[in-house]
Amino acid sequence: MKLNSANINIMVKACRKAAKILIRDFGEIENLQVSLKGPGDYVTASDKKVEKIIIDELQKARPDYSILSEEIGLINNDQSFKWIIDPIDGTSNFLHGIPHFAISIGLEQNKEIICGIVYDPIKDEMFTAEKGNGSYINNQRMRVSARSKLKDCIIFSGGPRYKSQNKELSFEEYKKFSSKVNVAIRKLGSASLDMAYVAAGRCDGFWQRDLEYWDIAAGIILIKEAGGFVTDFNGENKYVQNKTILASNSKINKEMVEVLR
Ligand code: IPD
Ligand code: CA
Ligand code: CA
Repeated sequence: MKLNSANINIMVKACRKAAKILIRDFGEIENLQVSLKGPGDYVTASDKKVEKIIIDELQKARPDYSILSEEIGLINNDQSFKWIIDPIDGTSNFLHGIPHFAISIGLEQNKEIICGIVYDPIKDEMFTAEKGNGSYINNQRMRVSARSKLKDCIIFSGGPRYKSQNKELSFEEYKKFSSKVNVAIRKLGSASLDMAYVAAGRCDGFWQRDLEYWDIAAGIILIKEAGGFVTDFNGENKYVQNKTILASNSKINKEMVEVLR
């Protein structure tokens, strides 16, 4: 079985086209021009090329939809539909030759994410989800894990970033989780893949501060459609406004909220 709606097909097509450039550039990583956008925040030539291909493809198919994309910002058209794009999520990995990064595209309708796709071009893993129609990895249905005790779980996180104002808070949170999680806490460096892995049941939960909407947009629907929970650190749904995200299977959300309180 696979997702087959017009919007998903448009997203998959845009992603596959952009991924060709991404794979080629990853192979030539040492020749890439790198420009400094800010401390700890590099924009590669690939980010921009990939973003352009994705936006051109999406605009060809849906000229009226609005767009929010990491490098170019907001293109305001249609009030109800908006693409949310992170052309490379995991840029630091990409730049260091670590094969763990993704293209992430979400589609919002009336402020709710209704479609999402996260594509890892190196492992050729395509994570897709659509509201009401489930979550898939390479066209196979995915479900979140069934682990019910935090101590038995693998939990992902990320940050704090170099320039974060919330460094101390993040370290405190890490400390608290490290005394509850017996198996492992991991930082893999791509928030969209972190969330895709929660949806696929590879990882049981994920928490992080200070993420941007394009980091999480696609992941939100991947997890919800796989039967998981997406909340803020209080267990509520203000994760975009509060910039705190907690994503997990359906069993450990409560325990994770308690750790963060
Ligand atoms: C970053 C990744 C990383 C997260 C950072 C993000 P980028 O996105 O998702 O996992 O910890 O906060 O900025 O810059 O590679 O698109
Ligand atoms: Ca990102
Ligand atoms: Ca990015």
